[in-house]
Amino acid sequence: MTDKELFAAAVKAAEKSYSPYSHFRVGAAIMAADGRIFTGCNIENASYSLTNCAERTAVFKAVSEGVTQFKAIAVAGSSTNDFTKPCPPCGACLQVLSEFCGDDLVVILSNGWFKLSDFLPMRFGGDSLT
Ligand code: THU
Repeated sequence: MTDKELFAAAVKAAEKSYSPYSHFRVGAAIMAADGRIFTGCNIENASYSLTNCAERTAVFKAVSEGVTQFKAIAVAGSSTNDFTKPCPPCGACLQVLSEFCGDDLVVILSNGWFKLSDFLPMRFGGDSLT
């Protein structure tokens, strides 16, 4: 699967977004080490802080299926049908991704590809970093 196809899967996943409060739809598509793709969307809640981001939905779906190694994640977000503006993962999602992915996880946005370490050069790791 190409970067473009993974990004297209993220845009498609955003169709399922449950975002009646922000009206900002986000989709993510994460590629596991074995090539399997898991998608996710943001899921909001009347108690706003309980919202789950698209990236974490995708990762949690994969981990709950026993998949914990990943190569790349694509993220697409928009309040319109135009997904051309980049939507980088939020800090919480970066930290969750870093639990399962090395610094070299490829992050695909609308404007190109990056490494997880471009966004999160140093993660919290408890005792594992000391
Ligand atoms: N959101 C994501 O799904 N991923 C992010 O990385 C940041 C924000 C969602 C949460 C909320 O539903 C909406 O975008 C607006 O913040």
